[in-house]
Amino acid sequence: MNQDELKQAVAEAALAYIKPKIDDDTVLGIGTGSTANLFIDCLAEIRGHINATVASSEATAQRLKKHGIPVYDLNAVDQVDFYIDGADECNRSLQLIKGGGAALTREKIVTAVAREFICIADESKLVHTLGAFPLPVEVIPMARSHVARELVKLGGDPVYREGVVTDNGNIILDVYNFSIPQPLATEAKINGITGVVTNGLFALKPADVLLLGSSEGVQTLS
Ligand code: A5P
Repeated sequence: MNQDELKQAVAEAALAYIKPKIDDDTVLGIGTGSTANLFIDCLAEIRGHINATVASSEATAQRLKKHGIPVYDLNAVDQVDFYIDGADECNRSLQLIKGGGAALTREKIVTAVAREFICIADESKLVHTLGAFPLPVEVIPMARSHVARELVKLGGDPVYREGVVTDNGNIILDVYNFSIPQPLATEAKINGITGVVTNGLFALKPADVLLLGSSEGVQTLS
């Protein structure tokens, strides 16, 4: 199976995972990216049974609406029961790097609210130590140089993601050459830099379930 087929397989596995658990009150959080997009397309099959969703990006909200799936502001719902999203990297502790699509802050907010975070990824995303994928950091524009200098002090090589403005009006620094053996400490440390909105490490609140697509089938890690 190629990577696209593995993404399709985990999208279908996520639908099979949540389908028996949803009822008339369920609120689904929906992530961003190519794997999440495939999940949205699967979700359209049961659109008549979807009470409400919240989206982690404008792009996701548009795709959900195009399928006729109801989308609400996060402040308009009482809870988020399941959050389904992809990842750029994951480890066996279900800690993640996210934000390759620049949606990390809203993704982290929906994750914070969700009762269960189901991560869907193909096996190419599984690593022993996070950090081969450059770590995205969302930054208030006027703090760009300050934050970049602080990231260099932490040992990384921050690169401004040219031409990208997040849904929140901010910029992204991608931190290259930055191995992350201690994701919990690194997530907290980077978030403590003034001017950082958040970084793409999901370690303080990792995924609850990882549906990992491989040529042997979809494994469930929890
Ligand atoms: C979006 O900002 C990201 O966090 C995505 O969830 C991540 O980049 C995974 O994307 P793909 O599913 O396209 O690989």
